Amino acid sequence: MQLIFLSDTHLADDRPFFVSNFHALVAHIADRGAAFVVNGGDVALDGPDNDGHIAHARALHDRLTVPWRAVPGNHDLGNAAAVSGRPPRQPITDARRARWRRHFGEEWWTQEVGGWTLVGINAQLMGSGLPAEEEQWQWLAGALAAADPRPVGLITHRPLFNEGPLQEPTEQGAEGRYLAPEPRRRLLGLIAGSTVRLVASGHAHQFRHTAHDGVDYVWAPSTAFVLPEALQPTLGARDVGFVDIDLATDRPQVAMRRLSTMQQNIITDFPGAYPSLAAAKAVSAAAG
Ligand SMILES: [Fe+2]
Ligand SMILES: [Fe+2]
Repeated sequence: MQLIFLSDTHLADDRPFFVSNFHALVAHIADRGAAFVVNGGDVALDGPDNDGHIAHARALHDRLTVPWRAVPGNHDLGNAAAVSGRPPRQPITDARRARWRRHFGEEWWTQEVGGWTLVGINAQLMGSGLPAEEEQWQWLAGALAAADPRPVGLITHRPLFNEGPLQEPTEQGAEGRYLAPEPRRRLLGLIAGSTVRLVASGHAHQFRHTAHDGVDYVWAPSTAFVLPEALQPTLGARDVGFVDIDLATDRPQVAMRRLSTMQQNIITDFPGAYPSLAAAKAVSAAAG
């Protein structure tokens, strides 16, 4: 039962810097097959402000020859206010959520794959204070109870923690990297009382695989680009690629994959993608 977990595709029709890597992965999946494909979010380059980016990402996902689902990321529908402690430039709103559902379907979902139940959530909602945030929590508690005793793979755009579930992350940029402290504690509480055996996340653009308290935590790399060390500390493998997760047993077997047909893009080589990141690089270069 092979799950292909890919993430952070950052697709756009009018700024198609990362589309060729997605095509390469679609071709690879067509060749070898899989039971299921999940995209861990940031499907689009700038979804909060471009309906066309989300629509284009959806059209490209329709080329996949294997059934698939996706969870939304910050570059799909914006950020919760509480994440950075200051008002986000692109806040998550009900209008942006509706756009996601129009193109990609439900924001939270369950999917049976072999003996497993995958549970996808909208991590961007957590800490937002929108009425839908509590609605999702209630749904999640019910979904985890309903899945028992099947092993559950939880899919969230944001990772939960760096060193471990009880340690507050403090490295450079940590406040924007993980679930905010309060939703993290609440989610860890739900996980502890459930059959969750795998938590798979995107957003970090680095691959990592750790295990805590009987749960495997897997960070997908991006299919699109990595960030340079000046902008993001090394937390795992800084590579473009995707992850194979074998769900044959209730202990997932995890392997990072790279393809020679995918380009190892560095975001600062694409100033047209995220101008603020290119500017940050210029500042860090000036600072030595
Ligand atoms: Fe991303
Ligand atoms: Fe992200």
